[in-house]
Amino acid sequence: MSLQNFVDSLDRLLDEANATLDAVASSEQLEALRVKFVGAKNGALKSVQKLMGAIEADHRPAAGKRFNDVRDAIQSALDSASERLGGAGSRRASNELPVDPTLPGIRPILGQLHPITQTIEHLKDIMGRLGFSITEGPEIEDTWHNFMALNIPEDHPARDPLDNFYLATASKQLLSPTDRDAMLLRSQTSTVQIRVMETQPLPLRIISLGRVYRPDAPDATHFPMFHQMEGLWVDKHVTMAQLKSVLRLFATSYLGNDVHVRFRPSFFPFTEPSVEVDYWWNDNWIEFGGAGMVDPNVFKALGIDSEEWSGFAFGLGVERLCMRRFGIVDIRDLYRSDVRFLRQFAS
Ligand code: FA5
Repeated sequence: MSLQNFVDSLDRLLDEANATLDAVASSEQLEALRVKFVGAKNGALKSVQKLMGAIEADHRPAAGKRFNDVRDAIQSALDSASERLGGAGSRRASNELPVDPTLPGIRPILGQLHPITQTIEHLKDIMGRLGFSITEGPEIEDTWHNFMALNIPEDHPARDPLDNFYLATASKQLLSPTDRDAMLLRSQTSTVQIRVMETQPLPLRIISLGRVYRPDAPDATHFPMFHQMEGLWVDKHVTMAQLKSVLRLFATSYLGNDVHVRFRPSFFPFTEPSVEVDYWWNDNWIEFGGAGMVDPNVFKALGIDSEEWSGFAFGLGVERLCMRRFGIVDIRDLYRSDVRFLRQFAS
């Protein structure tokens, strides 16, 4: 085939494309013309391109250049027609890749519960099976519930303003920490012991899980906001032996049969006698919380006859339980909000 004949074919094709595309009136027509002129399989340009093989080798570069010019001209005529008919949408349609419904979909990223939330649910489940019902208490407390009713005297270091987040509220100035109505972010969930004994009839067997706040410097085992699980069982003839059994049963249910539990004599103003509860972890005894028999002074502050009623209470650190079970070594990792870290603990 001569170069001249090839160029003539291209020119005719371009003239025809310009004329028909100038007159096109609907996007359906435009699509038909796009297939006719530039269709990948049987388009007119494709047919002309095939003729190139028959052109003398010397003339082929010139033929190729001409072919590219005409292809671009037809494409821009298609683009202008598309723009005239409705703009970018129709132009995109002419260039878009066909949809392949057999391709695999994009898997959505599923969220999951934070390890502490998972732990709280798990603890509620175990304690529920031991007959404890669930109660909640406020995180903003008054001095009465956080200290006074718990037999914590005015000069006790735990009440020091430097060891607590006392609050000035909109309705109240910052009161002296000795004032019964002074408000603070609760420093322990033992407040809920008082709230339930004030409002619920005896006997009772409850747990309460929630946040507490202390101005502790963060390190691998301390954080200024953490969670505690409080437990309280008040009935006639509740004993220390029952307290030890419940905590031992809880520990083996949550951590496994091989967990070692140790009770160390201790002191809390609201329990007598008091113990510190330790579990063996990473070749160390880790303190998980405190416990003891409800002090008669607490019963007295609430008008409960301690000759008739007895009880035990405990308060365990939820973060330390969670860390022990999931093998987390630094409490701060729980609160960095790094999903790459948190995602490892799928429920
Ligand atoms: C108490 O808070 C008592 N209310 C516990 C109690 C309840 C005793 C009922 C008797 C009867 P303590 O201050 O030791 O006790 O705290 C209990 C647990 O909270 C600690 O053993 C520890 O596991 C956890 N904890 C304390 N401070 C922090 C902190 N800054 N960060 C993380 N966990 C902490």
